[in-house]
Formats: sequence, C-alpha cells, structure tokens
Amino acid sequence: MRAALAGLALVCGAAVSAAEFTTLKGHGGPVMALAVSPDGRVASASFDNSVGLWRGRVPQWLEGHAAAVTALAWGPGGLLASGGDDFAVRLWQVEVEPEAAGQEAPDQVRGGPRQTGGAGARELGRHRGKVAALAFAPSGGWLASGSWDGSVRIWPLEGGAARELAPPGAPVNALACLSDTVLLAGTAGGEILRYDLATGAALPLVKHGFGVNTLVAGDGWIAYGAVDGGTRIVDMAGAEIADFTLDRRPILAMAWHAETAQLAVGDGQGYIMIVDTDRWQIARDFRATRAGPVWALDFGPEGAMLYAGGIDDVGYGWPVASLDAFAPGISGERSFLRDAATMPNGERQFMRKCSICHALEPGPSRKAGPSLFGVFGRRAGVLPGYSYSATLDGAEIVWNEETIDALFDQGPDHYIPGSKMPMQVIAGAQDRADLIAFLKTATTKEAKE
Ligand code: HEC
Repeated sequence: MRAALAGLALVCGAAVSAAEFTTLKGHGGPVMALAVSPDGRVASASFDNSVGLWRGRVPQWLEGHAAAVTALAWGPGGLLASGGDDFAVRLWQVEVEPEAAGQEAPDQVRGGPRQTGGAGARELGRHRGKVAALAFAPSGGWLASGSWDGSVRIWPLEGGAARELAPPGAPVNALACLSDTVLLAGTAGGEILRYDLATGAALPLVKHGFGVNTLVAGDGWIAYGAVDGGTRIVDMAGAEIADFTLDRRPILAMAWHAETAQLAVGDGQGYIMIVDTDRWQIARDFRATRAGPVWALDFGPEGAMLYAGGIDDVGYGWPVASLDAFAPGISGERSFLRDAATMPNGERQFMRKCSICHALEPGPSRKAGPSLFGVFGRRAGVLPGYSYSATLDGAEIVWNEETIDALFDQGPDHYIPGSKMPMQVIAGAQDRADLIAFLKTATTKEAKE
C-alpha cells in the first residue's frame, strides 16, 4: 500500500510540478469557507464579516455581511452566494474572466440579477439563524440555503419570493444538489433528507445518528462526513458503497473534483484525506494543521490545487501532487490558545473574549470589530475607516472604565441594543476590572516592534 502510494505521488508530481504552495493572506479572522469557481477564482469567507475574492495572492473584499460569513457557493456566470451569522443570504455578481466567459451557456445567466461592472451585491433575504449551507441548482435557476434555524429555502434567481421547504426537523449543516429538482440536506439531527422539489416531498435517505456536517453529491454516489468521524459513501438509495471512517472527528469539510476523481475530507484534528472516487481507496492522508480543525476545503479548477482554511486568518493552497511534502500550513495557534494559563487574568480575558474581533494596535485592521487602540476617552462609533452599525454611529457614549464595565456587565444587547457586537456578558466583577486594567495599558502602547 505504501509503495503504491509513493509511486502514485511521483507520477502525479511530475505532471503538475508547476503548481506552487500559496497563501491567501489578509483576512482579519479565521477562514470559515472556501469556494473555487470553474474559472479558478478563489473566494474565501471569514469570521471578519467579509468575503475575499482572490486574484493570485491579491484580495478584493466584498463587504455587506454584518457578522461572520459562514457559507459560500459559486453559481453560473460569476454569481457568488454567501451566507452568514447575520442570517443573511447575499448574492454577488463577480466579473467573469474573459476567456472563461465563453465557456458559460449564456441562457443560464439571462434574466438573473446580473449587474454591469464590478462586483454588485444584493441581499436575497434572511433566515432566523446562521446560514450554514448554500447550493446552486445545476442549471443556475435557483439557490438553496440551509440554516441552523432548521429551515431550507429555495431562492429563484429571477427574483420573487423564496420557497420554504418542509422543515427538516433539525439545524441544517450541509446541502447538495443532485439535479434541478432534487436537493439533499444534511442535518445536525444526523439525517440526510432527499427533497423532491416537484412534489415538495422530503424523504430520509440516510439516518446516521450523529450530526451530518458536510455532504458531496457525486456521480451516482453521495459522500458525507459527521460529528462522530463517520466518513461514508452511499448510493442514491442510501445503501453503503464505502466507509472511510478513521479515528478522527468531527469531519468538517469535503470537496470533490470530478475530472480527477478526488474527494478531499477535512477533520477537526487537522488532517486532510484524499479518496480516489474511481477506486474508492485512500490516495493520500496528511496533516494540514499543526493544531486545530480544517473547516474549509475546495479544489482548484484542474484538481491540481487544494485550498484549505481553519483557525488561522490565512487560507492555504497546496499542490495536491506533493501534499505529503509540506509541513503543516495552518498553525492553529491563535494567541488565545497559547500560554493562556500563564497570562495575567485581564490579558486572558481579552485574548479569550475579545481578541478574535478586536486589534489593540493603531492602524487598519481587518478584524470584525474596530481596533480598540485609544478607546479610553473616545466617543463610541468614531474610529475613522470602520463601518459601524447605525446604533453606534452617533451614539452619545464615551468609552471609559464605567461604560466598558457596564457594556459587559449588562451585555452589548442591553447596553447598546442594535449594536453589531454579539451578546456577551462577563459575569465576574473582578474579571471585568482585570480586563479593563489590561485594556487601559494595552490600548495606549504603540505597536510592539
Ligand atoms: C464577535 C466579534 C466581537 C467580539 C468577540 C467582541 N466585540 Fe467588541 N465590537 C464588535 C463589533 C462588530 C463592534 C462594532 C459594533 C457596532 O458597530 O455596532 C464592537 C465594538 C466594540 C466597542 C466600541 C468601540 C467603538 O469604537 O465605539 C468596544 C469598546 C468593544 N467592542 C469592546 C469589546 C471588548 C472589551 C470585548 C471582549 C470582552 C469585545 N468587544 C468582544 C465585535 C466584537
């Protein structure tokens, strides 16, 4: 087995030696989802509320979500859908590469919400919970979205009201289209449901028992990964074809590249396994992160590059042929995971509860919240270059020991209702005092050299 694997790696290595390891740097928070368009545009979704659209290593930011962006899908003609923790489903029209535009069937985009010039955006609507999954119909006629509120909606791209499908009975984690009339939904309840859009019927196809996190619809098969580490391939009737369950869990992400018959599987322990979907054999298995999960995965258009994201603010692209040759790319070492035990309490409070959204240094930051540099004595909502909610913009509050204490004693949702800051209370008065004492020094220091 090992010898066979090594031989395979050599052969492929020669064929695609041009592919190079790459990094997608610029997000201000973990990369939650990745999707590559047929013409090779990489889109990334981040905890920093933005979608990154990459040309090589250069990002363009698509702003519009008011919370972490958690799901992405490419449709026809440069349509990109995103879903977020603000419960919103958004549609972006991305300029298509001239050479790729010729490959599109023009009638597929006719009548769509196409806008001329640049990346236009519109919000299709909102669920009542985080949008965890998106899938376009193969023809491009509609977009399906699934949410943790336990709903699945079909949005006609020509406009008009969304159709709400029969509730799956549990939060939806994953969606996949089999055809223009058949949609699969994987739920936190451990089921895969098969929706027939013509009749509206929903039939349980798989009852796994543990939450289904990710789904791929292949050619006559369905692959899914679950909370308990279950990694299974079933046929269209739900009967098992293969089982790649290892001792790693949870399974968080999957991507399939049809032409090269590669299925990539990413898990909570930071491994990526590649399954050969012609032979149903494990082709490669490598550790992609030094620590922490792989929760975003997709292949480049030729199947030669594999893009992955996890807890780092950076997305990574590996040449598939030499995957095993790279040291783990994703460090998984956010400062709040490091040395927490040895930090003074105030710093630990900040690292655990604030650092993922707030920088302490002056200057631009791509994190979800404004930099807290110089926050003491500053009026709320005035940091230049940060786009505040209407609530904070023009609020009368001045930030000082008392107001920051009140903010986390009562929680942002009570202290400044309508703010974009998530609900969070720090119950212990001493924890708040330590946090504030830490902030008072940390937000006045110049950035460390
Ligand atoms: C999940 C992201 C997130 C976390 C975690 C978070 N914040 Fe925020 N914070 C925000 C956002 C977004 C805003 C801007 C709110 C708005 O515009 O309504 C904000 C605004 C603020 C402001 C007002 C800043 C200004 O310029 O007016 C302060 C102060 C603040 N946060 C402190 C904290 C502290 C201290 C913590 C940790 C205990 C924390 N935040 C945790 C996202 C976060």
